[in-house]
Amino acid sequence: MKKQVFEGLSPAEIKEINAETSHYEDKAAVSIEALKIVQKYRRWVSDDCLIAVAELLDISPTQLEAVATFYNLIYRQPVGKTVIHYCNSVTCWMLGSDQIQERLCRHLNVGLGEMSTDGEYTILPIVCLGACDHAPVAMVGDELRLDLTENAVNEIFGR
Ligand code: FES
Repeated sequence: MKKQVFEGLSPAEIKEINAETSHYEDKAAVSIEALKIVQKYRRWVSDDCLIAVAELLDISPTQLEAVATFYNLIYRQPVGKTVIHYCNSVTCWMLGSDQIQERLCRHLNVGLGEMSTDGEYTILPIVCLGACDHAPVAMVGDELRLDLTENAVNEIFGR
């Protein structure tokens, strides 16, 4: 008999994922939702959690990793409480998103993808956020910030 090892997951996570899978014949259909559930509790998805979720969904860790890699809002490394996604697609890039990213990283004393020492922030790139007419833009947590300028540090952290 196959041993079930969901040890990387909490009972609450397992319960929520099972509730999602109950709506589908193919458990794999909830791959992204299951990863989001784990991330809601932990802010990121560790290798152990990914393996446990794959087991729960009856798919291979490789399949689930492919989903996690494709969906850039699933974090596979620890991140700060607030993730700042700056858009680095063409319009934002032409209007200075690289400089904004450098200023934000310098302000927090972090590299891209690193967590600030207080655990509050991580800065990551993201593709077009669909607000090109207000470029350059960033998502600060769930909040879209438009028309950023060279004062982006104040515009983002000054509130
Ligand atoms: S290119 Fe940045 S929002 Fe579209």
